[in-house]
Amino acid sequence: MKEFKRTLITAALPYANGPLHIGHLAGCYIPADVYARYLRAQKKDVKFVGGSDEHGVPITIRALKEGVSPQDIVDKYHTLIKESFEKMGISFDIYSRTSNKIHHETSQDFFKTLYDKGLFEEKETAQFFDEKANIFLADRYITGECPVCHNPSAYGDQCENCGSSLSPEQLINPRSTLSDAIPIKRKTKHWYFPLQNYEPWLKQWILEEHTEWKNNVYGQCKSWLDNGLQSRAMTRDSNWGVKVPLPDTEGKVLYVWFDAPIGYISATKELTEDWADYWCKDDTRLIHFIGKDNIVFHCIIFPAMLKAYGSFVVPDNVPANEFLNIEGDKVSTSRNWAVWVHEFVKDFEGCEDVLRYVLCQCARNKR
Ligand code: 2FM
Ligand code: ZN
Repeated sequence: MKEFKRTLITAALPYANGPLHIGHLAGCYIPADVYARYLRAQKKDVKFVGGSDEHGVPITIRALKEGVSPQDIVDKYHTLIKESFEKMGISFDIYSRTSNKIHHETSQDFFKTLYDKGLFEEKETAQFFDEKANIFLADRYITGECPVCHNPSAYGDQCENCGSSLSPEQLINPRSTLSDAIPIKRKTKHWYFPLQNYEPWLKQWILEEHTEWKNNVYGQCKSWLDNGLQSRAMTRDSNWGVKVPLPDTEGKVLYVWFDAPIGYISATKELTEDWADYWCKDDTRLIHFIGKDNIVFHCIIFPAMLKAYGSFVVPDNVPANEFLNIEGDKVSTSRNWAVWVHEFVKDFEGCEDVLRYVLCQCARNKR
């Protein structure tokens, strides 16, 4: 068994587009915190990093709904989320945010390094465009019927009902989530990361060398790898996000799933000048705690990015929990079916550890 000298624990960066609910806590923050405390109690060298994910479509949609700017949204929810974590005793060594300058610089450097190595494919393709709202429709800006489970309100990147990862082209009867218009196709240029080039390495690394990963994680990775990987666009048409660091790219930003996991690196940089020990030394054990809808991003896409960059470690484990149900129905922000953490800590002050205990038991029973 490999000897590790230090452990870097990350917990998924929650979108700063709404308050935290107990499903978030049960899914990854309490398990990550318990593990960090367990290692610290043994005097192990451990860092536990987190932060708010402040880019991407969920933020811009919330801003449009509330009639305010995306910056207003992330400022409001970053503060609320950070306070909720503090009150619940989630003992991050740093809780950062992806709007920080250091994060923009780190993710732009990451993109530019891959670009300079010639690792992106530049493609002009016809993508869905909303003529009423005058905007390209990617990810959650577009909705339609899921081709797998026929849920009528699947998104352009994922069906929340069956968990399938989708592209807008796969949706049946697509509509704009902004104006309800039927989208047309318009040409636009983007940079694609050819995941298929990393498939042999991913198969060896996950399917051969990490058979100990949890069944849900291993099974989802196997299914992705068995179906064959494809190039994935790493940029988007938007004015909200990390700007693409190339000439003549006004109105283009990095795909949120490109910049967000780099947020773990930026947060570590902010925390300690020894950040490279935690990211680049072979004897670091990197563990990503996540919810189950984040598996592909942390087990396939981000590790392939790290491998492509060259000098980073890849995760030794990626524990993901199943979703939490309340009265048999999945906890959900969009359907307002949740127990909100900021309300719980106010209404039941002093009972935080009771909630932590109950949620640990729920996670244990749903393994
Ligand atoms: O699903 C989510 O809430 C994402 N914001 C998680 C990002 S995790 C990491 F990549 F930053
Ligand atoms: Zn579905």
